[in-house]
This record gives sequence, C-alpha cells and structure tokens, in this order.
Amino acid sequence: LRVLSIASEAVPLIKTGGLADVVGALPDAVAPHGVAMTTILPGYPAVVKALGKTKAIHQWDSLLGEPARLLSGKLNGHPLLVVDSPNLFAREGGPYADLAGRDWGDNWRRFAAFARAAADVAGGAVKGLAFDLAHAHDWQAAMAPAYLRFAPVGTPIPSVMTIHNMAFQGYYGSDIFALLELPSWAWAIDGVEYHGGVGFLKAGLESASAITTVSPTYAREIRDPAFGMGLEGLIAAKADRVHGIVNGIDPAVWNPETDSHLLQTYSWRSLARRQANKRALEREFHLEQSDGPLFVCVTRLTWQKGIDVLLEVIDHLVGLGGRLALLGSGDPAMEAGLHAAAARHPGRVSLRIGYDEALSHRMQGGGDAILVPSRFEPCGLTQLYGLAYGCVPVVAHTGGLADTVVDANLAAIHGQAATGVTFHGVTYPSFADAITRTIALYGQRDVWTQMQRTGMKTDFSWKRSGQAYAALYRQLAGAA
Ligand code: ADP
Ligand code: GLC
Repeated sequence: LRVLSIASEAVPLIKTGGLADVVGALPDAVAPHGVAMTTILPGYPAVVKALGKTKAIHQWDSLLGEPARLLSGKLNGHPLLVVDSPNLFAREGGPYADLAGRDWGDNWRRFAAFARAAADVAGGAVKGLAFDLAHAHDWQAAMAPAYLRFAPVGTPIPSVMTIHNMAFQGYYGSDIFALLELPSWAWAIDGVEYHGGVGFLKAGLESASAITTVSPTYAREIRDPAFGMGLEGLIAAKADRVHGIVNGIDPAVWNPETDSHLLQTYSWRSLARRQANKRALEREFHLEQSDGPLFVCVTRLTWQKGIDVLLEVIDHLVGLGGRLALLGSGDPAMEAGLHAAAARHPGRVSLRIGYDEALSHRMQGGGDAILVPSRFEPCGLTQLYGLAYGCVPVVAHTGGLADTVVDANLAAIHGQAATGVTFHGVTYPSFADAITRTIALYGQRDVWTQMQRTGMKTDFSWKRSGQAYAALYRQLAGAA
C-alpha cells in the first residue's frame, strides 16, 4: 500500500514540536505492516539544504500563482518529496513565523499551495509516482484532503486527516476563498466555509475519509466544547469515523541504553548509573547538589502547557526540598515569571530559555521527575520520553497523558503498575498536592525504583500504533 504523508515538519529536518517526531517516525512504524510511506514537506531552507544537489522531478508554472518545483530525497531512509517554491518557503525564521516570532502574513497561501501540490502528487500528477491514500497532518496540510475532494487531479483516492492539536486550525477571512482555486461549491458548510471565513482544519476534517487523533482520550474529549475549540459538533457528528491512535516513540532516538547525549547510558537494570547524569545536570544548571528530587520540565511556554500554574507551585516545590530545571521558550510573560522564580530560589530553580534537543535528552536522563501540567494534551511526548528514561512523569489527567501514565495510587503501587503521578484539573491545589505526593513517593526508595522500572519496561514503541494506522489505511483503500 502506497501512502503519501503530508506534513509541515519532520524530524530530523525541521521541528517545532511533537508533530515532527511523529511524522519522522511514521514511515518506519508502518513499514513492517506492508505500507510504503513517502513524506512530502515544504521546501524551507533547512529542508532544501539537506537534500543537497538534486534535479526537479516535476514543475508547476503556477501553484496558486507561484512557480514551484518538486524535489526528491530521503527522510530516515524513506522517500521524501519537497515542494520547493522560494517565494513561499525560502525565508529566514521558523516554518510558521519570522525571527521575531510573528506568524507570516501569507501562511494561508503558503500552506494552501503546499496542500495543492501534495494533492496533485497524491492524485498521480507526477509520472512514476502513484499513491493509494493521502495522510494529512494538522491544519498546515489540511487543505490537501479538500483539494482531493473538490478539485482532484487524476484518480480519486481516500484520505486520512490527523489532528495533532485542535487549538491550531488555520482560520482565515472569506476573501481568500477566491484565491484558493477551488470550485464555488466548495464554499459550503460541509466544505471549507467556517463561521463566514475559510477554516483549513475544518475543511480537512469535512473532506477526509477518516479522522484520527493522537490518543483515545483526546478523541473523546474533542467531542466536548471544552476541548473541541468550536469543532466539537463536527467531531461528534462524525464520531464513528474518528479514531484515537496513541503516538509511539522512536527507539533509535529515545533510548537510554544507547543515547549518545548522555554522560552515562543505563537500563532498568542499572538505574544507579543515572546518578552521574543527575550530578552533571545539576552542574549544568548551577543547581545545589542534594539528594532531594530534581524536577525537570521541557516544554513550549504556553497556556496549553499550564506553565502559569507551574509558576504558582514553584515555591511549594522548593519548600518541600525539590529543585527544578526547566528548558523552554514561548510566552514572554511566562519567561519573565520563570526568571523571577529562579531569582527567588538561586541554586534551587534554574532555566534555559531556548530550544535545545541535546539538553532535552540530558534532562530526561538525569532528572528524577518530569512535570507536564497541560490543560489539554492530544498525546504528549515528553511524558513518554520520561517513562522510557526513568524520569517519573507528574502529569495532568487529560488526553494522551491520561492514556499513558498510571497514577501511583495504592492499588497500582501494590500491583507494581504505577508509573507516575496524575492530578485532576490544572489548578494550584491539585498540582501542589501532586508535587507533595511525588516528593513523598521519592522518599520511599523501593516504591520509586519500582515506578521507574515499570515505566522503563512498558512498551511505547510504534509497534501497535503502526499496525493501527496500517489497518486503517487498508480499510479505507479497500485493500486486502
Ligand atoms: P507539543 O508538540 O505540543 O509541543 P509534545 O510533548 O508532543 O508537545 O512534543 C514536544 C516535543 O518538543 C518533544 O520532543 C520535546 O522534547 C520537544 N521540546 C519542546 N520544547 C523544547 C525545547 N525548548 N528544547 C528542546 N526540545 C523541546
Ligand atoms: C501536538 C500536541 C501533542 C502531540 C503532538 C504529536 O503538538 O500538542 O500533544 O504529542 O502534536 O502528535
């Protein structure tokens, strides 16, 4: 079965969050189940550079008005296609925003053109390339299913729309509709129209043959107004076509036994070796050395991630003998709040503002517990990395966090099933209580070690989820 995976980021070429980890890992995940996956990405400078010298395999004179070329290369050993259109993608900055963090004003055109190109490729516009199904990720790729439905090139093929985060929808004014090169009948309530404008994610959800999201709990939550961000009605109406498939982690990248970023590699059998990583992390963050728990946090600094409530519990955490090392970037007010906390608690609270992949590995490999107080979390990957690394997750009971962390209640402790601490509702009292419980558990060395081991032995590989995606593709493509 040949699948075209359409996305705006993929590890190791371009990453702003978990989407990239998942898109980068998916080809390997589905390969054992008879799926040959090709990934298509926009030609950002980093991506085009990684391809090196290549010849274009296809040209567009006008992709929504812009000339473009299709380049080919490899992504983790699997086929990669890149839509090279310098006017749209050859810019300094991130994939969605300039160096100052402002969204590009023409993002609608950049990602509509990318989706148009992907739909052409999926439909067979390029000689020698054929696909049985298109798989679009998030709003940046969501117009691809819409183009496949309303303005297909070649043979119609089924499509899957995956929601990695309902909070980002790609919503634009009605004036762009005329520029999308869609037939007029696409302007409909079950088409691209959304509250009088154009909704990219909405259009993808309306057009795709099936919808998936990245955990079963989030699949249920988004039927509810508190999580559906306006699209709860659509999701509820299509509930029988919405599947929750939890993300896996890529063992080639996230494995404490082989991780080259770590001072000491280790396994669940050799947890004592983690101590050297903890000491190194304390030095790196200029934290006091102590036998108390070292909490870590690796995150975008946003409301979604509950960082405002984390700011409120820091004094409590320090008061009970904990220390905190945080790596993140985002909201300037949250950054300022964190700086203030670090100034209040020198040697006990320390932060790095920025994005640092290698440091994120060292934090998982040396921290005692990782904090994930998200208000909503479609899947979440940092708690999965924590589980794999014996860095016990302390998480809000929501979305994929609820699906992947087993709370250390008495039954779970006695059954040796506990892997972390969960709390209900991202508020000061519940989060502070979770910190208190975590520190108490940390003091019971045998229980703590058991939790670490159980988490490390749990299978969070792509095995089952790769199979689930492959089964869905087969069902939609009518393949045996
Ligand atoms: P989201 O995609 O919503 O940000 P996830 O938990 O799914 O949340 O994925 C976040 C990914 O980004 C993880 O791989 C995490 O390690 C990484 N990450 C987030 N912030 C940083 C940072 N400041 N430096 C390095 N890696 C980060
Ligand atoms: C989004 C979500 C996160 C998820 C990731 C990958 O960024 O916020 O929860 O893990 O996508 O699916």
